[in-house]
Amino acid sequence: MDVSDIEGDITEVLLTEQQIAEKIAELARRIEADYAGQNLLIVGVLRGAVMVMADLARELRMHIEMDWMAVSSYGSGTQSSGVVRILKDLDTDIAGRTVLIVEDIIDSGLTLSWLLANLRSRGAESVEICALLRKPDAVKVEIDVKYIGHDIPNQFVVGYGLDYAERYRNLKSIGILAPHVYS
Ligand code: XMP
Ligand code: MG
Repeated sequence: MDVSDIEGDITEVLLTEQQIAEKIAELARRIEADYAGQNLLIVGVLRGAVMVMADLARELRMHIEMDWMAVSSYGSGTQSSGVVRILKDLDTDIAGRTVLIVEDIIDSGLTLSWLLANLRSRGAESVEICALLRKPDAVKVEIDVKYIGHDIPNQFVVGYGLDYAERYRNLKSIGILAPHVYS
């Protein structure tokens, strides 16, 4: 789905399909260099990271394994509650494993700081983070993020996996959601 298919719902396109693809390729080159020769497990955080995972995984020119977690910190609104629940846990035992968490966006950072601590406590060899987007002005907890795609303004964005009330995930680009949609 393109922005033209949902006219009026997006006030500004922040990243086009092309810009996203270029950034994913750039991140993949860095990850290949950093994890060469290692048995890397990439963990996608459902559901927002589905598109990033699909594209990043196919861009990586090395063997990887993929697993998924689902956590909830939002409900259907646009503000983080700070309360994280595991809705679906990993199928993989990550003790001794080299793990890279793949996320769509870091907003307050509450979800990822919780997830990082949770996965590290399972005895992984290393746990790092790759996030396509970050909102620097929204950060409430500082977390050490190894790979960041783009810093974006502190506005609610949708597309490329990111939703509002489960819609817009199938938008090819990433854009700012028009306030009339949620107010
Ligand atoms: P925190 O605040 O814990 O939030 O860093 C991370 C999770 O919140 C969701 N999120 C968004 N989803 N547009 C969205 O569609 C946004 O602008 C946005 N900001 C945060 C997202 O699921 C992320 O994993
Ligand atoms: Mg998410």
